[in-house]
Amino acid sequence: MELDFMQFIPSLPYILKGILVTLKIVALAAVLGFVFGIILSLFKISNIKILGWFADFYTSIFRGTPLVLQLMLIYFGSPQIFGFQIEPYTAAVLSFSLNSGAYISEIIRAGILAVDKGQQEAAMALGVPYGKMMWDIILPQALKNILPALMNEFITLTKESAIVTTIGVMDIMRRSYQVGAEYYSYFEPLIMAGIIYYLMVIALTFVGKAVERRMRRSD
Ligand code: ARG
Repeated sequence: MELDFMQFIPSLPYILKGILVTLKIVALAAVLGFVFGIILSLFKISNIKILGWFADFYTSIFRGTPLVLQLMLIYFGSPQIFGFQIEPYTAAVLSFSLNSGAYISEIIRAGILAVDKGQQEAAMALGVPYGKMMWDIILPQALKNILPALMNEFITLTKESAIVTTIGVMDIMRRSYQVGAEYYSYFEPLIMAGIIYYLMVIALTFVGKAVERRMRRSD
């Protein structure tokens, strides 16, 4: 096996530029997915049956079909869905956040159910309104417990974002693949992409651990 990483050094800045593209998509999708996740989880635990049914149906669709299919459907099908062609970047953020919302809703639901029932009973006995109880009492406690699971989700999202290459987004994956095509040698640039993704995940893990420590300080 002959490897020559040196010849790819000039292409490194080009590949590295993909980090920003990947980060922009993942960060936005993570925030939106988290918001969707909270809303769906509240639907799932609500007494209003139809909201629960909707959230369950939503989750089954987005968890039951491949993410790459959802991405392509939203991008290539946008004229049929929205009446006009959307940008690849928009399709990526949209599909990732919709998909992630399904997974996150289950994580949050588990977190809410794990909070001691007495908390809700005490709040209700004190006459705390439902919204305030959820937001100020239940969700903060749930969040602390589900942080590792949420980090898992964000790591999945970061790596899974590589599929945007299928709709032409110039992320890390696509750039390294292009460099490979240019040199007729894919191994080295793909290894470079692998290292970049790995370092991003390590950084994310580090941030997650720091947030976790910070949240446990009050225990
Ligand atoms: N490859 C999986 C799929 O296509 C990944 C789904 C995304 N996972 C996630 N936790 N958001 O279904």
